[in-house]
Amino acid sequence: MWALRVALAQLRPRPQRGPQRDAARRAASSASRSAAGGAAGVRALVYAQHGEPVKVVELKTLELSSLGRSDVRMKMLAAPVNPADINMIQGTYGIHPELPAIGGNEGVGQVVEVGSAVTGVKPGDWVIPADMNLGTWRAEAVVSEESLIVIPNDIPLLCAATLSVNPCTAYRLLSDFEQLRPGDSIIQNAANSGVGQAVIQIAAALGLRTINVVRDRPDLQKLTDRLKDLGAEHVFTEEAMRKPEMKDFFKNFPRPRLALNCVGGRSSTELMRHLGYSGTMVTYGGMAKQPVTASVSSFIFKDIKLRGFWVSQWKKDKGTDQFKEMILTLCDFIHRGQLTAPACSQVPLQDYRVALEASMKPFISSKQILTM
Ligand SMILES: NC(=O)c1ccc[n+]([C@@H]2O[C@H](COP(=O)([O-])OP(=O)(O)OC[C@H]3O[C@@H](n4cnc5c(N)ncnc54)[C@H](OP(=O)(O)O)[C@@H]3O)[C@@H](O)[C@H]2O)c1
Repeated sequence: MWALRVALAQLRPRPQRGPQRDAARRAASSASRSAAGGAAGVRALVYAQHGEPVKVVELKTLELSSLGRSDVRMKMLAAPVNPADINMIQGTYGIHPELPAIGGNEGVGQVVEVGSAVTGVKPGDWVIPADMNLGTWRAEAVVSEESLIVIPNDIPLLCAATLSVNPCTAYRLLSDFEQLRPGDSIIQNAANSGVGQAVIQIAAALGLRTINVVRDRPDLQKLTDRLKDLGAEHVFTEEAMRKPEMKDFFKNFPRPRLALNCVGGRSSTELMRHLGYSGTMVTYGGMAKQPVTASVSSFIFKDIKLRGFWVSQWKKDKGTDQFKEMILTLCDFIHRGQLTAPACSQVPLQDYRVALEASMKPFISSKQILTM
């Protein structure tokens, strides 16, 4: 049996403060214990070096560690393949786990057994990672209680599996940068992304008007209909946004106060061009791998503000209690039917190569979810 030492998380870009650093270390070290000792074998997707995910990720059978007093044994139910997971495997993300590592940062598990000192979690509970780097692409894990958050188990499985990253990001993007009131408008690119779909739904629930930009594709009408079903008010292609006709559109539509940039490059320049006076553009993704370029006039004549957002940093800054509070708020949206999971394709763990390949293709519009 292949022995794995999943390592401590190394958070490179910013120094962490005490409690968060300790929490990250404990979470990662308990993930490491889960793959280190004990007898039962569990399947896991492991990478021992950085590179193209389909080439470096392998399905392994690992030993499950014995349960410590403060540990929780859970079986994973479902875990998505997100761009951050892909970038972590490629070695280009802001978090660099020591190798070998188990892939996956998000997902939902069900508690099977708890240690004698565990008080906040019981068998049967649904749990999600409190932080990045848990290694969710595996059938079972033993992790510390504090690396998990209990969520209601009456929400759809796919909502639970995709709850801890994208809806949280969407919620913060809409809450933390401009004081938006019902009737205000926002604009976003990659509107069909997981984050984009959550933005559409949360914005609609808050009474915000949305302009949603997507890349042109053969099935554009189908995608447009789907986004409108979620609550998107307007859906435009990147090309349409560059046309002079957009001036007429804005005669009858309020200029956005907030632009959400998932792409960079030309796409973000267009978002900025349509922002209202003194509006804010928040960059949270860089799918085009192109820099954000702002014109001098957009600063002088429009006084626009450029900001950035990283949900991992938000969690470190705010702590677990505020994160839990936000998760419950998002579950309220789900219970009210205002927030659904993104469009998904469920793929059995052993077919992970299919999921990895699909997640890196353009125009897929479907989040790949590994099922255990
Ligand atoms: N900062 C944060 O805290 C935070 C949190 C969550 C996510 N993110 C980031 O947000 C981004 C989206 O994540 P997700 O899980 O929502 O993604 P996703 O569901 O996998 O969707 C990917 C999106 O990116 C678009 N895209 C891919 N390549 C592109 C390119 N070259 N140019 C323009 N658009 C492109 C896709 O559009 P097509 O359909 O046209 O291919 C699709 O809309 C990622 O960069 C992720 O790392 C950041």
